[in-house]
Amino acid sequence: MNIHQAKQFIKHFFSAKRKGHGVHSPFAYQLCEEVFYNENAFYDFETLSFVREDLLNDKTVLRIEDFGAGSKAFKSNQRKVKDIAAKAISTQKQSEIFYKLINFLKAKHCLELGTSLGLNTLYFAKAAKHGSVTSIEGSKSLFDVANALAKKQKAENINFICGKFDEVLPKILNEIPALDVLYIDGNHAYEATLNYFKMALQKKHNNSVFIFDDIYWSAGMTKAWEEIKHHASVTLSIDMFYFGLIFFREEVKEKRHLKFWV
Ligand SMILES: C[S@@+](CC[C@H](N)C(=O)[O-])C[C@H]1O[C@@H](n2cnc3c(N)ncnc32)[C@H](O)[C@@H]1O
Repeated sequence: MNIHQAKQFIKHFFSAKRKGHGVHSPFAYQLCEEVFYNENAFYDFETLSFVREDLLNDKTVLRIEDFGAGSKAFKSNQRKVKDIAAKAISTQKQSEIFYKLINFLKAKHCLELGTSLGLNTLYFAKAAKHGSVTSIEGSKSLFDVANALAKKQKAENINFICGKFDEVLPKILNEIPALDVLYIDGNHAYEATLNYFKMALQKKHNNSVFIFDDIYWSAGMTKAWEEIKHHASVTLSIDMFYFGLIFFREEVKEKRHLKFWV
């Protein structure tokens, strides 16, 4: 954790709510009950935790081209699958929250920016069984690993795209009917994050959620998060420290910014 993250972590620890009590927005309260603090283990979770276990034991070395804002976890571009699984993908807790969120919103059209090993993509695909997931990855070696993993798990509703976000996003946004869930988890830089957000707005609707990973990764990311949550189209923002969620629901009459600890 860098100094910026540590400071923000302490702030979050003391200001975030631990449960839905006292949350005035009925929708946010429902999110607490059904998503954030819902202790139910879904049937898919066991299978997906075995997949994670396998990745955590996989000593295959990959050569990774870094397209994002750099990595704090790795110095070299030769990385073992097991190290990527341990340090550079969504945690089990995080992916399970996303699964419950997709399930709760009955989301069908999901888009992930940053596939990596494709484990989180599998959570999305299993939660959106009757829909599909598009996931973009710039590194060809990671794209290949994710493809092979999805094939092995018989996840047929994933469309993996190998390319740089800036180059492929306009076409994908043109083709996707709507964005029910957008997860931005790569290129954690101020300008890039704001650009992807603004581009994606064209496909948002009343039931959409946009998820931004690593909102406290750097001062630039926190600045981007602050601007995004205050955008005129956003009616509710939820800060979970490791990621932030924004909603555009018209029934949330008074704009709200909430913080939760999970
Ligand atoms: C944090 S990882 C994604 C983890 C994954 N979403 C998960 O939850 O497990 C970010 C990925 O985004 C990719 N990436 C970063 N910037 C990119 C860019 N501009 N274009 C394409 N891919 C990029 C990196 O190669 C990396 O694999």
